Amino acid sequence: MKNIQSLLKQLTIEEKIKIIHGNGLFQNGGIERLNIPPLVMSDGPNGVRQEFQNDDWTPINDSGDYVTWLPSNTCLASTWNPELAYYFGQILGNEARGRGKDVILAPGINIKRTPLCGRNFEYMSEDPILTGTLATSLVRGIQENDVAACVKHFALNNQEFERMSVEAEVDEKTLYELYLPAFHEALIEGGSLTVMGAYNRFDGDFCCEGKKLLQDILRDEWHYDGVVVSDWGGVHNTEQTALYGVDLEMSVTPDFDNYKLAEPLHEKIKSGEIPESAIDNKVLRILTLMSHLRMFSPVRRPGCFNVSRHQSIVEQIAEEGIVLLKNDKNYLPLSTGQNTQNPKKILVVGDNATRTHACGGGSSEVKALYDISPLLGIRMALGGNARCDFLPGYYVDNEKNVCGEVDWQADSLQTDYSKAENQSQFENEILPKRKQYLKEVLDAVPGYDEVIFIGGLNHAYDTEGFDRTDMKLPYGQDEVITALSDATEHLTVILIHGSPVEMPWIDKVHSLISTSYCGMNGGHAIAKVIFGAVNPSGRLTETYPLCLADTPTEAYHSYPGEMGEDGHRHVTYSEKLMVGYRYYTSKDIPVLFPFGYGLSYSTFVCRNFRVTQRNMSSIGELQVTVSCEIQNTSSRDGKETLQLYVGIPEPEQPKMSLRRFEKISLKATETKEVSLILTQKDFATYSIKRKCFVTNPGTYELYLGTSALDILYHTSIEITQEYAL
Ligand code: BGC
Repeated sequence: MKNIQSLLKQLTIEEKIKIIHGNGLFQNGGIERLNIPPLVMSDGPNGVRQEFQNDDWTPINDSGDYVTWLPSNTCLASTWNPELAYYFGQILGNEARGRGKDVILAPGINIKRTPLCGRNFEYMSEDPILTGTLATSLVRGIQENDVAACVKHFALNNQEFERMSVEAEVDEKTLYELYLPAFHEALIEGGSLTVMGAYNRFDGDFCCEGKKLLQDILRDEWHYDGVVVSDWGGVHNTEQTALYGVDLEMSVTPDFDNYKLAEPLHEKIKSGEIPESAIDNKVLRILTLMSHLRMFSPVRRPGCFNVSRHQSIVEQIAEEGIVLLKNDKNYLPLSTGQNTQNPKKILVVGDNATRTHACGGGSSEVKALYDISPLLGIRMALGGNARCDFLPGYYVDNEKNVCGEVDWQADSLQTDYSKAENQSQFENEILPKRKQYLKEVLDAVPGYDEVIFIGGLNHAYDTEGFDRTDMKLPYGQDEVITALSDATEHLTVILIHGSPVEMPWIDKVHSLISTSYCGMNGGHAIAKVIFGAVNPSGRLTETYPLCLADTPTEAYHSYPGEMGEDGHRHVTYSEKLMVGYRYYTSKDIPVLFPFGYGLSYSTFVCRNFRVTQRNMSSIGELQVTVSCEIQNTSSRDGKETLQLYVGIPEPEQPKMSLRRFEKISLKATETKEVSLILTQKDFATYSIKRKCFVTNPGTYELYLGTSALDILYHTSIEITQEYAL
């Protein structure tokens, strides 16, 4: 291992500058003279991105960069399974190293503040505890491979609309209690070696150069000593960045010498405006990172990609990430019908039955080695003794946007994205096609035993750079689902989508499955759930509201913000902690499906609830244990997820906040004892006065349930002393 301090001493000022800015779209400058290689990065959260030219967003296209396409972070989080998050990380890290990368720009962990955010599919949840727990496991998995995770985007990057300039205005309590905890968890507990600054502004500065976030909180309070990488093009000011901002500036343009931490910085150091010592820490941190990654060592893990182990684990993640939302009268699972005299006839309807989603969505796009579509998965599950036909059912009219133009990223620094709407094209071209597709499907339905509709969103909607403008299913799908539900009793609806949609037809549908983008074996996983080879166990990681108007940011008029006199948009988080289920449960707003919700083909019963409270005052430790027995009362093995929420008796606190969860596997009829343990930290709120988390004496509510609304046990406890953390 090199002595990093002595290496630093040998570097000239020019060489130091080379190390702290991009010298390629995904790498900094190496110093050959001293055997310091460049630090090579790659997107992203769903798999290692394809290779681009070093100075141009043109893919190399040499067929050597196909990889495992992993489920989206939303799908992963829907497993509520930290062990799977760890395996997910292992795969991502292993493939990144296998492709010669040093840093994988993942995971994305911003809180889902509004369902409209275009990048929600890349994020995990509306809840910081669920996000933090899973992200921590994921980061650990990645970093076992001599590859660094890069948790992103720090922080408050909660909308894509004007993401390059919008200023998030958040009060300190909300910041500490809702938007920072998952980052703290992933960086400090998980030990993520790098973190990516966000594009947006906070506290009057861009997040990649602001003192408050990067210096005061990250360095001084959290003592984070990893590397802060800018988002691509997120640095705007040389001086500010040199003094407080990121360690490594990256961007989307090939004028590397003009980056703010390149020649402009060099000039200012030469003129004495900025001391050379200001960048020594940045260089030191980057070299230390490289040393951690064994980049100066002759022995380093080689990694590997596209191995069958990765493929089978991503299938398992997809299986557990699929959420069964409705199953009236146990209509599902369907039988595959192996009667050769009278073969079962299944009609699969909908564009998402055949679409691959790997290659879209922005920087998280993946060049998948293969992608099993739901239609293929269903046909493979059925075999030859059944008939399975396909009709599109609805017409996708914005194909061009779906797979992403090759070099969208080259233009991504522009602040104003707008999608052109063309009314006459809609009436003359799109509407007639929709009618024709619907007619074809309705004419065909009587000839089939089962109809499986597979729709939802795609990366024209779940995408970087844009927010959705509504929560409706696009392409007239509501009409198609309604018409199908009128035409047949035998309809199963499957939605593939990265964020919630309104479901005006919900009461007409008895069987509903929902999943986010679920990776290269997603089609197999979906088929296994439909036909019962897998017992669904996914749970929603965000509330599905009834309609957009019901969401907190609409109620508080706190999205997408207002133009300020300073020429950029300001978005005030006036809903404060009232995000997601915290809002709906506090205000008693009915929802379509609550946070944490999901059905199983098994049934479970919980009983014998108990709470024990121990105060080990000698060590200042409070321990509250909530226990129960849980039984699988069905004849099928299954998994249930118990969730423990706490209600804090302080003004402006939500009714309940998730604190612990556990996914429990139970064989048919099996009973297990479950205990969830809380400590004083779980009752704490952030004190602005004392600048730390404090647990105050008082009566605290405890809710144990299977979703934020399905509470099985509610009790309260007294905490009699204060704990400052
Ligand atoms: C995205 C980042 C991504 C980077 C590099 C940016 O546009 O916000 O998440 O890692 O590009 O592709």
